Amino acid sequence: MATNDNKKIVLITGANKGIGFEVARQLAQKGFQVLLGSRDEQRGKKAVEQLLSENLSVSLIQIDVTNQTSIDAAVNEITNKYGYLDILINNSGIYIKEPRPSQLTLDIFQDNFNVNFFGAFFVTKSFLPLIRKSLSGRIVNVTSALGSIYFHETCKQSYFHLAYSASKASLNMFTYQLAQELKNTNIKVNTCTPGLTATELTNFHGHSVEIGAKSTVFLATLPDDGPTGKYFNENCQEEKW
Ligand SMILES: NC(=O)c1ccc[n+]([C@@H]2O[C@H](COP(=O)([O-])OP(=O)(O)OC[C@H]3O[C@@H](n4cnc5c(N)ncnc54)[C@H](OP(=O)(O)O)[C@@H]3O)[C@@H](O)[C@H]2O)c1
Repeated sequence: MATNDNKKIVLITGANKGIGFEVARQLAQKGFQVLLGSRDEQRGKKAVEQLLSENLSVSLIQIDVTNQTSIDAAVNEITNKYGYLDILINNSGIYIKEPRPSQLTLDIFQDNFNVNFFGAFFVTKSFLPLIRKSLSGRIVNVTSALGSIYFHETCKQSYFHLAYSASKASLNMFTYQLAQELKNTNIKVNTCTPGLTATELTNFHGHSVEIGAKSTVFLATLPDDGPTGKYFNENCQEEKW
């Protein structure tokens, strides 16, 4: 089994770009052993090379969250190298142009749910045995304010992204129920929104990835007496669902 110099091991899905890449950078700067998840090997290698050139401790894990064979291969690789996983960050996500709710088609629902909900669900299910071997496991699900009924009720404008919003609302419910299931273990399960962040997903509208990464890094590094089963906003404050 490879030595990791007692660094905590964190896997971030969809970390070859955007918020996930910045989360990888910030956690590596804090001394974590970062496993940078990327569904595409070449894009992943490029991202890893960038962080290695900054003298950070990062390696590549190829993982397509919609493909169970790919997930299983990632589990095997981490099992063989380390034997456990401290932190799983379900960051992979897609956001595609959608018609109004009444015009939605099954394929748009399926595309959103396959990555944003089923992806996070099956990655978590598959890695849970390894996370149970950690002394203080953390699972962070990257959601969106659009998945929050409270957000829709209180914001001035109407947002119509039913498939994306519903996939993230489902991720929120998974977060809550898994946290309840694991409440007597040392694993904490929480969810956060990065806020509107300038990445490819938003056509580069919003705040910087440095700010967008903050809430995820906060939840990944929660102390042992920290919360579980909660939803946090981009300022790392607990928010209504
Ligand atoms: N940006 C925002 O304003 C914002 C707001 C709220 C929530 N979020 C959430 O934040 C997370 C990160 O988004 P981002 O803004 O950083 O978007 P991004 O720059 O588009 O990055 C998305 C990442 O997810 C990966 N991905 C997509 N499908 C995948 C799959 N099947 N398997 C594995 N990885 C996959 C992408 O890989 P490829 O490069 O191979 O496509 C990419 O690495 C998402 O969950 C998103 O919903 C973002």
